[in-house]
Amino acid sequence: NDMIKKAIFPVGGLGTRFLPATKAMPKEMLPIVDKPLIQYAVEEAVDAGIEEFIFVTGRNKYAIEDHFDHSFELEETLQAKGKTNALKTIRDMIHQPGAVSYVRQQDPSGLGHAVWCARHLINDEPVAILLADDLILGKSCMAEMIATYKGGNMVAVMDVPKSDTQSYGIVTPSADDGHIVNVSGLIEKPPPENAPSTIAIVGRYIIEPGVFDQLDSQEFGTGNEVQLTDALAHRIGKVPFQGLRFSGERFDCGSKIGFLQANIAFAMSRDDLENRLQNWIFKRFSKP
Ligand code: UTP
Repeated sequence: NDMIKKAIFPVGGLGTRFLPATKAMPKEMLPIVDKPLIQYAVEEAVDAGIEEFIFVTGRNKYAIEDHFDHSFELEETLQAKGKTNALKTIRDMIHQPGAVSYVRQQDPSGLGHAVWCARHLINDEPVAILLADDLILGKSCMAEMIATYKGGNMVAVMDVPKSDTQSYGIVTPSADDGHIVNVSGLIEKPPPENAPSTIAIVGRYIIEPGVFDQLDSQEFGTGNEVQLTDALAHRIGKVPFQGLRFSGERFDCGSKIGFLQANIAFAMSRDDLENRLQNWIFKRFSKP
């Protein structure tokens, strides 16, 4: 699917659930083991063939720009000290000149508003959107989506407990083969009694240009924010809309429990940490 070469990373949120950690630092720079959340999302996009990276930033987000740029003093120092592995780690993550753009979202008016702020960088083409706080361990979720995408709008979906629907955008399925869900309706954060299903959207989208036209109207929805879900819902019936159940394991790193679980799961998937961490947890927390 050669059409999808651009990805938008909305990083303009306030991250209030992680205060005070996020007072002077963006939530997306919180590390899972030794890598910030935003870098996992960028690497997932690279694995999906994305070549242009658009960050929609807000206040206190300079650390993200610095993270994806050269750090000449650091590189020189590592070189002088012969720390070649560390040097390679930071050099490998630098993209082609011009491949990374930053757009500023002046007010955090919602995810739909953040995406709309990138409209001038998108032509008549589908574009990927990745939310770094939804971290996916395993195969690149965006690569799976792009491989399946046949036009219109697509979201990554997963089944959630009925009691949790209020934390997600929830879809109404018109067909569901256990892998691809055809979507005939969408609602943002419904209470369980109003939820049309327990199939929830996680933070991966492929959107068609019509969504930007819809976002032009700037309708405020749930939480008095411009919701991407609302704009997508308006496009149902006009273009195809599918949900993809992805193969990886998703962690909600916008919540404390999800962030802690992600740190443990990612550490346990690493040869250099697995044994020592497992032994320590076992000793420290097993009851005598
Ligand atoms: P969240 O709903 O997690 O909000 O945003 P938040 O502000 O980041 O965090 P809390 O709830 O206050 O702790 C979901 C995603 O949408 C982006 C966020 O950066 C995050 O990736 N976002 C949200 C924006 O870019 N702009 C916004 O106005 C709102």
